Amino acid sequence: MNICVVGTGYVGLVSGICFAHIGHNVICVDKDTEKIKMLNSGRIPIYEKGLEELYLKNVEQGSIRFTNDLKEGVKNSDIIFIAVGTPCLADGNADLTAVESVAKGIARFMNGYKIIVNKSTVPVGTQKWVSKIISENNEGNYNFDVVSNPEFLREGTAVYDTMNPDRIIIGADNTYAAGVIAKLHEPFKAPIIITDPESAEMIKYASNAFLATKISFINEIANICERVGADVQEVARGMGLDKRISDKFLGAGIGFGGACFPKDLKAIIKIGEQVGYEFKIAKDVIEVNNNQKLKPIEKLEKALGFIKGKTIGILGLAFKPNTNDIREAPSLEIINRIQQLGGKVKAYDPKAMESAKMVIKNVEFVNNPYEVVKKADAVILVTEWEEFKSMDLKKVKNLMNTPVFIDGRNVFKPEEMIKMGFEYYCIGKKDYGFNVDFHLRVAVTK
Ligand SMILES: NC(=O)c1ccc[n+]([C@@H]2O[C@H](COP(=O)([O-])OP(=O)(O)OC[C@H]3O[C@@H](n4cnc5c(N)ncnc54)[C@H](O)[C@@H]3O)[C@@H](O)[C@H]2O)c1
Repeated sequence: MNICVVGTGYVGLVSGICFAHIGHNVICVDKDTEKIKMLNSGRIPIYEKGLEELYLKNVEQGSIRFTNDLKEGVKNSDIIFIAVGTPCLADGNADLTAVESVAKGIARFMNGYKIIVNKSTVPVGTQKWVSKIISENNEGNYNFDVVSNPEFLREGTAVYDTMNPDRIIIGADNTYAAGVIAKLHEPFKAPIIITDPESAEMIKYASNAFLATKISFINEIANICERVGADVQEVARGMGLDKRISDKFLGAGIGFGGACFPKDLKAIIKIGEQVGYEFKIAKDVIEVNNNQKLKPIEKLEKALGFIKGKTIGILGLAFKPNTNDIREAPSLEIINRIQQLGGKVKAYDPKAMESAKMVIKNVEFVNNPYEVVKKADAVILVTEWEEFKSMDLKKVKNLMNTPVFIDGRNVFKPEEMIKMGFEYYCIGKKDYGFNVDFHLRVAVTK
């Protein structure tokens, strides 16, 4: 099939490359000229495991190309995916400006029947709204169908998830268009649910809100565990064996970030509000998460007494491992708070240094984890990259000014960290090595 994917971000680029890989002719369109220049010069603008190899292979085979020209994409395709960003507006609603602009463009450039597929995460009713925009701007009066096909890939495992989805959701008014989109996804061998567009749009928000709730739930359990002397990892292990609960998304930590959960929660709250319903749980999930992101600061203050003038090392900037995405990452809030409190920050991330440099100021960016910890008064592990899990901890301890280690992702074993001489703080367990008298004394003398 001839496919056009509009928007070459995490979703559009990965989907486009995967469709090319399973044998289709793909044109990827983006309005960002730098991105397209980069993609046309043999480089990809994002990091995703396995993506570069697939990209190079399909470019070489001629099954995928990249352009800024929407007209070229629309005219040469039977199916057009909309995969542009739908960020959060100040009031919490999803910003549909990019979807609207692409829909108008598609309508203007249509030269025959097209199936327009909305892959962006959009409020309930958007499929109908996009159909209306296309009808109103469709000068050639061509037939078309608009299908809702929400995306569930996870950054960090986006290629794997696209090739091995848990399910494919297709929301359509028309059985022919639904059938074409179902056939397109058959090679992925996943259950395909064909439903109405409103339910398809809701499935996406409901799924993300549920996953975010699970994270905030275990983080609240973690906070209680710290106070009652329980170990949240043991609690999660015990809970997770219950098949009704499952062990997924039960890792306590310093909260979720990324381009999806925060904005999708706000959007589903708005969707509810617009029909007179208050989605109370979603509101609490956001509040719990905002507090959880600053957990390391609480622990830093406990450990150091005060942060002013101290050097704090940050291990990991991306919102999760295996991506270079720092949108809404806990690292941003943590760094900002340390700086407000007068601390100095050194940071390193295996893949997100470039994206971080564009938004974080007054941070010493270094080239490896050992430079982060060198002469640091405390270190915070923010993102659980494999590189950090395999650090030489003896070396880490010896390089630090004071061996205060705040493990925001419960990567290490407390007993081992204590044995090595660290003052070790993690999430949802008791703090190890903390000596409040000592720190109070230091704080008072200073
Ligand atoms: N990132 C994820 O993990 C993920 C997962 C599932 C769903 N989604 C949803 O998919 C959508 C895209 O997310 P993303 O993370 O890929 O976003 P992104 O910001 O990485 O990419 C969006 C791309 O769209 C381009 N774009 C914007 N307006 C355009 C226009 N008018 N014409 C052409 N291109 C335009 C941008 O330049 C950008 O390259 C969002 O609705 C998001 O909620 C994202």
